[in-house]
Amino acid sequence: MSELNKIALQILSNGKGILAADESTATMTKRLDSVKVHSDENNRLLFRQTLFSSLSMKECIGGVILYDETIRQKTSNGKTIPELINSSGSLTGIKVDTGAKTLAGSKEEKITEGLDGLRERLKEYYKLGARFTKWRGVYLISDKYPSKLSVSANAHALARYAALVQEAEMVPIIEPEVLMDGDHSAKVCYEKTSEVIKKCYEELQLNNVDLSGTILKPNMILPGENSKNKISNEEVAELTLECLKNNVPSEVPGIAFLSGGQTEIEATTNLNQINKKNNTKFIMSFSYGRALQQSALKFWSKDINDISGTQEVFDHRAKMCTLAAQGKWSENLENKK
Ligand code: G3H
Repeated sequence: MSELNKIALQILSNGKGILAADESTATMTKRLDSVKVHSDENNRLLFRQTLFSSLSMKECIGGVILYDETIRQKTSNGKTIPELINSSGSLTGIKVDTGAKTLAGSKEEKITEGLDGLRERLKEYYKLGARFTKWRGVYLISDKYPSKLSVSANAHALARYAALVQEAEMVPIIEPEVLMDGDHSAKVCYEKTSEVIKKCYEELQLNNVDLSGTILKPNMILPGENSKNKISNEEVAELTLECLKNNVPSEVPGIAFLSGGQTEIEATTNLNQINKKNNTKFIMSFSYGRALQQSALKFWSKDINDISGTQEVFDHRAKMCTLAAQGKWSENLENKK
């Protein structure tokens, strides 16, 4: 078993998943504005350090993805943020792309940037304590999108990123996110997501990436958020499993879904169904941002010094996600607080 494979398994085994706390300063400011908390360095640190010192970190969170600002911050008792994360047995991850920019040649679509200077930045992040990384490609769905150009350019960037990350002895999370925006059906999401994932693995193999030392972070197969044709959680699970079984090579040890705009309960219910029906050899877990933090953020915003109250809310959500990652979640457990 390679070192990278061990790291990937350590992050995702026994129902553990990933806390995606890697919002850029602009995105975090939007989140804080929405609950009327001023976005400054101290408040961003306070909220995040509150989550990272929660009890559930030990049992439920195998890794935390950070943004550049956070990996360099120190907690109020002097520990660095990576030290705080490691103290609960969890691993530190870092978002290394520099964002999705307009794709020249197809201006309504995006290409993720950040390859220039990446080799040097990775060395620094390793020294700061990172052991895994994230890069997110984004794809629009419409009758003409994603274009062949977007599918191919984003897959190429993801693969070159992954090869550089493994060279730096870290595990790359490969995140091709097909967005929920639009009124498309789940069937269309299934087709487009299949095409996107297939192309990513073609490029990853071309770049000699060791797939056993990677984690895939895909979207679930869902109808567009404005679609009138809603489907059941069972159908979401069946389509998602079918898509991944057909397009992800068997060497990949684990899949950690993004929540992508689903509510906390939707993201939990769907993950639970996926695990109940999981007929693949992949670990199926979570790498949620909003679906892990939303309630905690709302609670915290009422009194930013109520650390233990906020942690209780976060611990509950993290526990529910861990149960779902084992197919053991139920509505009864959800409501038993
Ligand atoms: O890149 C997206 C984040 O890491 C996951 O965030 O669960 O809110 O979609 P989300």
